[in-house]
Amino acid sequence: MKQKLEKLLQEALAELVQVSSEDSLHELRVKYLGKKGLVTIVMKGLGALPPEERPAAGQMVNVVKNRLEEEFGTALNAIRTSRKEEKLRSERLDISLPGRRRPMGTKHPITLVSEEIVEIFAGLGFQVAEGPEIEKDYYNFEALNIPKDHPARDMQDTFFVNDSIVLRTHTSPVQIRTMLKQAPPVRIIAPGTVYRCDSDATHSPMFHQVEELMVDKGITFSDLKGILTSFVNQCFGSGIGVRLRPSFFPFTEPSAEVDIACVICRGKGCRVCKNTGWLEILGSGMVDPEVFRHVSYDSEVYTGFAFGMGIERIAMLKYGISDMRLLFENDLRFLKQF
Ligand code: PHE
Repeated sequence: MKQKLEKLLQEALAELVQVSSEDSLHELRVKYLGKKGLVTIVMKGLGALPPEERPAAGQMVNVVKNRLEEEFGTALNAIRTSRKEEKLRSERLDISLPGRRRPMGTKHPITLVSEEIVEIFAGLGFQVAEGPEIEKDYYNFEALNIPKDHPARDMQDTFFVNDSIVLRTHTSPVQIRTMLKQAPPVRIIAPGTVYRCDSDATHSPMFHQVEELMVDKGITFSDLKGILTSFVNQCFGSGIGVRLRPSFFPFTEPSAEVDIACVICRGKGCRVCKNTGWLEILGSGMVDPEVFRHVSYDSEVYTGFAFGMGIERIAMLKYGISDMRLLFENDLRFLKQF
């Protein structure tokens, strides 16, 4: 029996040398020390020995068993350590490598121009106001002195949601909402998206406007011209000519369309200004007393002016963009230039 155990031990140790993975180590362990393992079988055979031989034999089996346990344990540790080292070696990071830069997005030219306009007016003491894009017919038209069936409604091709709700055709309803909310004085600037049923090289069904409204005691047409001139000089450079032409809007009286000297040819005449030397940039006027009546402002005490400009138009002039559709196609080659 002693010899048999010796032999088992030697065989097991010889096999152990070949083992290089946790799995095969486990198999080896089962082979010798498992429930039906070779050493276990010897141990179970002890009962068949004469009683006086049992203690010595038992001790021998235990010695072998302990020795194997110990060797297997050491082997397991060695396998685990080398696996860990291997892993550390293969997963080593070079923390001195420069990182990969993600390309930064850019602001859309419409956003840039809108922010710039707002900033100029903020500097002149105006506060930003907002209104919904889905608007009541009342605020978009009626309160702005454009009653139902009035021919002036034809000036703007409207998307109707239903009889009394429209997609706002201009930012002017923000004037009404603001005046209904607060008493004069008012000094607001309202940038926003507007919609008209219109689409070609110079018209888009969705575009952007900035509305401006100033109401107080003693506001006159010269205030309108002064603020406008200051704005144009800050937006397009000082010394740019400004021209007011009589016009008509139902919500202003008198009304004027505002031209600036062509920023492309400086007034000499070119394709962009159609050889007139002037470019129209916005509509404006003194707030019509009828509008004040709708918001319960006393038109005997207060006067005001308003104007609204198309942001696309300003962006095209500022950046020399010839086709408005470029502003809506989201071609990255175009957008990355800003
Ligand atoms: N709302 C007008 C338009 O969209 C512009 C405008 C605003 C005119 C304010 C006068 C006063 O055409």
